[in-house]
Amino acid sequence: MDKDEDCLRSVGILTSGGDAPGMNAAIRAACRTAIKCGMEVYGIQRGFNGLLDADAVRLDFGSVSNIINTGGTILKTARCRGMFSPEGVKRAAQGVKTLGLDAVLVIGGDGSMRGATELSKEGVRVVCIPATIDNDVGSSEYSIGFDSALNTAVEAVDRLRDTNASHGRMSVVEVMGHTSGQLALSCGIAAGAAVVMVPGKKYDIIRDVVQVLKSAKRSGKSHNIIIVAEGVEGGAARIAEVLRALTDDDLRVTILGHIQRGGVPSALDRIRATQMGVHAVKLMTEGTFGRIVAVCGGQISDVGLSEGLRMTKETGRDFYETVAEVSL
Ligand code: F6P
Repeated sequence: MDKDEDCLRSVGILTSGGDAPGMNAAIRAACRTAIKCGMEVYGIQRGFNGLLDADAVRLDFGSVSNIINTGGTILKTARCRGMFSPEGVKRAAQGVKTLGLDAVLVIGGDGSMRGATELSKEGVRVVCIPATIDNDVGSSEYSIGFDSALNTAVEAVDRLRDTNASHGRMSVVEVMGHTSGQLALSCGIAAGAAVVMVPGKKYDIIRDVVQVLKSAKRSGKSHNIIIVAEGVEGGAARIAEVLRALTDDDLRVTILGHIQRGGVPSALDRIRATQMGVHAVKLMTEGTFGRIVAVCGGQISDVGLSEGLRMTKETGRDFYETVAEVSL
């Protein structure tokens, strides 16, 4: 474990990558904990761009009032191309010096953690918090934003169910998740989908989809939901095209898209974000850096950055079987 007892006077917080509901709750918790520990806190603007441009604002207790219940991120976010080049990383590290920061808290997904790793190679003391609606950070059972996005997706599918039931139609619904099927599978179970399609799984479209729909029809179902993760080749549009060619079902495609990223964070996201924000600052005050805050066995803990980035997360096979078990 990387122990660095040098005095911590000033900490910067940034959010990076796709925004996720609950990021603000994490900023709030980390900011207030750090202030209570005697630190000055700075909000770095627009992800790593704020380091490249040495752009940060001082945060006090009041700066993070009334944000626990808001989606998005008050610090703004970005996918910073600058961090892909050694010159960009050096400039970001220089930004840390210019801003007088003793440590940086990075809130984001795997890509953001890779940026943090590069910064730490330049001598910057970092701690990371996983936040992405994809829930695909290998080192943590949970990433901030997942539960809110899931609830948004499930609510949307519930609405589709009403209109499908009225028309006797089928919906092919595409949910986000990048290359992960976590959101799709959880949504599939919670929304009562007949079929869930996730990236990385091989499908026999006749056996795995058409036959399932046919037997659903035989058992009296007048409408069905198919959830397709965006990482499935061609997404919902391609699956719908194939089904139109193979069946006479009346179907509609809905792509939920960025709607899943917005909105009020769920209670679970607020709680996890708050716990993670507090834990991250506690690590810093102990002089422990180069860590990813993680949920492990349901408990808040942490793992080393490089070890954590090597960890992968399987898309739950058990979840997939559960969908199949109850879909008919
Ligand atoms: O990582 C979060 C996520 O919403 C993914 O699910 C999606 O593939 C991607 O971000 C979309 O990115 P952008 O907002 O840059 O279009």
